[in-house]
Amino acid sequence: MEAKSYDKGIFNGASTDTRDHVVELLKKAYWMEIETVMSYLAASTNLDGVRAQEIRESLAKEVEDELGHARQFADRITELYGVVPGSEDFRAEQSFLQPPEHQTDVVHVIRGVIKAETGAIEHYTRVVEETDGVDPVTQDMVIAILRDEQGHRRLFEGFLREYEFEGKA
Ligand SMILES: [Fe+2]
Ligand SMILES: [Fe+2]
Repeated sequence: MEAKSYDKGIFNGASTDTRDHVVELLKKAYWMEIETVMSYLAASTNLDGVRAQEIRESLAKEVEDELGHARQFADRITELYGVVPGSEDFRAEQSFLQPPEHQTDVVHVIRGVIKAETGAIEHYTRVVEETDGVDPVTQDMVIAILRDEQGHRRLFEGFLREYEFEGKA
């Protein structure tokens, strides 16, 4: 009797190209998380002033969230037979999240965070679309991460609204 061969989805021999493509999307996501960890860690430490306290605390919490995301992306890269890249492959992209001239410039940081979260939301939405019907496990993972980023963005939009209302942004 012939052994029955089951469909292994993204792990099918014929799916190598697709798998490689998903791994590339995941590597980009991994770097975005790592850079966000750097930027938020610096901003949560650098910000000065009474008004900055809430933002500092939110950013410090998000550093943990983003590191958790980076771990999930790294795990999924290896599950798909990829290799998590080394630091020499890193290319910085968050020019908008460099330390401001004045460390009390909370609005600069808030706008930078919204931009970083928007970038993550755009890339993860693309990953969700491109893994649709191809790799439901990656898709499921990225949907959950996407929700976190939407939450982060919403929180900082609220902060910005407050500064705008007071005419400080
Ligand atoms: Fe993240
Ligand atoms: Fe985030």
